[in-house]
Amino acid sequence: MTDFRIPETYKRMPEIKKILEHPDFQSMRFFRHHGNIDCRRHTLLVAERAYVFSCRWHADTLAVLRGALLHDFYLYDWHSRDLPPFHGFRHPYRALREAEMRFQLNSIERDCIKNHMFPLTPFPPKYKESWIVNWADKSSTVSDYAGMFKLATMEAEPGLEL
Ligand SMILES: [Fe+2]
Ligand SMILES: [Fe+2]
Repeated sequence: MTDFRIPETYKRMPEIKKILEHPDFQSMRFFRHHGNIDCRRHTLLVAERAYVFSCRWHADTLAVLRGALLHDFYLYDWHSRDLPPFHGFRHPYRALREAEMRFQLNSIERDCIKNHMFPLTPFPPKYKESWIVNWADKSSTVSDYAGMFKLATMEAEPGLEL
């Protein structure tokens, strides 16, 4: 997978490969996430960022990567009008349920998924690894929206190259 910039040694690990190659993980590219970014792309960007934090803070990198890859594994388009409200509060629990149905998770990975929206959800992350996923997700979301804003500004100014 060329659009996932982490070391090959991690990409080749069965615990990571199993997620990356799973058809339901691949299907996330059909769900719009922030602006033009699909859910699969967002997840890969969060995992790349979380990888850097994990190395810096000597965390369990395998758990960080698996938690990051599955943190938004809720498998629907949250822009759809037919969904129950409060996606922001509910989706970590849905993502955890969907992930547990397909993959064997440890307690750190479960916590990474369940508490990635804190402080929007009530309980803070319990582990260093789940704080890393929480921060990587928040900073990636800011970057996604900043990218959208930049694109919109450039589109509004004819003559600027994208
Ligand atoms: Fe999320
Ligand atoms: Fe996310």
